[in-house]
Amino acid sequence: MGFIIAIDGPAAAGKGTLSRQIAEEYGFHHLDTGLTYRATAKALLDAGLALDDEAVAGKIAREVELAGLDRDILSAHAIGEAASKIAVMPKVRRALVEAQQAFSKREPGTVLDGRDIGTVVCPDAPVKLYVTASPEVRARRRHDEIIGKGGEASYDEIFADVKKRDARDMGRADSPLKPAEDAHLLDTSEMSIEAAFQAAKSFIDAALKKN
Ligand code: C5P
Repeated sequence: MGFIIAIDGPAAAGKGTLSRQIAEEYGFHHLDTGLTYRATAKALLDAGLALDDEAVAGKIAREVELAGLDRDILSAHAIGEAASKIAVMPKVRRALVEAQQAFSKREPGTVLDGRDIGTVVCPDAPVKLYVTASPEVRARRRHDEIIGKGGEASYDEIFADVKKRDARDMGRADSPLKPAEDAHLLDTSEMSIEAAFQAAKSFIDAALKKN
């Protein structure tokens, strides 16, 4: 079994960028587990199926292929919203968590990012990071990213969405978003991505030495 780095945190905290940088630095495989929830939601939407039928959503979740996940196609805001609705369903979570756990065992190591990696998917991971930032900072970053790509966005609407998504992810009964007890907290509200990367690297290097 390879070395596992578990990274959790709320939407738009910077964990995706950080996870990709870490995976590249150490030559590890990376899985953005949010994409597995997004792919399930998109398959339901594309097939015109309801988002509130747990048996159907669970079956679709079992058919998700990790190799076919495409960030560009799955990044749409509406898919993220739908994903957080089906992510409350235990049958969906069980199917996707099994696939994520199989991925996490790859050699020489893996970086998984999501909401429940350190608490549920890989509770024995030797390095756990909880990446967060204030809702205002996260909404501002998401807003600037959309504007930077030439899109249109309202800060107030994005801020309201960030709060709604937090409430859903932190308030659900099955695998709510929360830091694992042994996670290192990285608050990126006033930290550059480079500083967050350096901090993460020091935790990872220390754990690799012990391994
Ligand atoms: O991270 P991302 O925005 O792509 O995730 C979409 C949704 O999928 C989240 O809002 C959350 O509800 C769900 N999710 C989850 N557990 C994970 C990853 C994502 O419940 N490990």
